[in-house]
Amino acid sequence: MDEEREGLEVTACERCPALVESRSRIVDGTGPEDADVLFVGEGPGAEEDAQGEPFVGRSGSVLDETLRTVGLDRETVRIANCVRCRPPENRDPTTEELANCRGYLEREIELLDPDVIVALGKVPSEHLLGRSVAVTKEAGTVEEVRIDGTPRRVLICLHPAATLYDRSQTGTFERTLTTAAELAGVSGAESGQTRLGEF
Ligand code: URA
Repeated sequence: MDEEREGLEVTACERCPALVESRSRIVDGTGPEDADVLFVGEGPGAEEDAQGEPFVGRSGSVLDETLRTVGLDRETVRIANCVRCRPPENRDPTTEELANCRGYLEREIELLDPDVIVALGKVPSEHLLGRSVAVTKEAGTVEEVRIDGTPRRVLICLHPAATLYDRSQTGTFERTLTTAAELAGVSGAESGQTRLGEF
């Protein structure tokens, strides 16, 4: 058997030959298994592959900092990816790879039953909503969609890296995470000032 699961962890999987080749490890979601907010990124990058945790590189720093700004905390949210293995040269996951990993993501969503799923960037937004998404235009929009038969609230969000390429996107990213905090019933978001600092 080449596949094993334990709770929300995937301890072994060989469905995607190219990713089995490129990964050093499977990167499972992190955070409490009863979190109200689930963040979903695209797939592990180099740092995530090295450390075995999602969003621990530069994008992760932006995410962590903005979470704090809006009154959330990395320790209280769950963070996962559409695919759990690093694609070669950080290319986008293929349709087949996304499909191969879909069951793991659906199980994560089902067990967590979050108040809101925050789709970080184009790939997770389109994967979860099943349509093409213009993320820059639609960031901050909440859409209800059936995932594995259950209605779920998906919040379209920029990928944190977008704020590194274009600092003018920082406000949009922060406002979207404020919406996530509100949907999860978390108050205490600091208004106005960003604390992203220099990256
Ligand atoms: N980008 C992603 O989409 N996921 C990660 O885990 C890190 C960077």
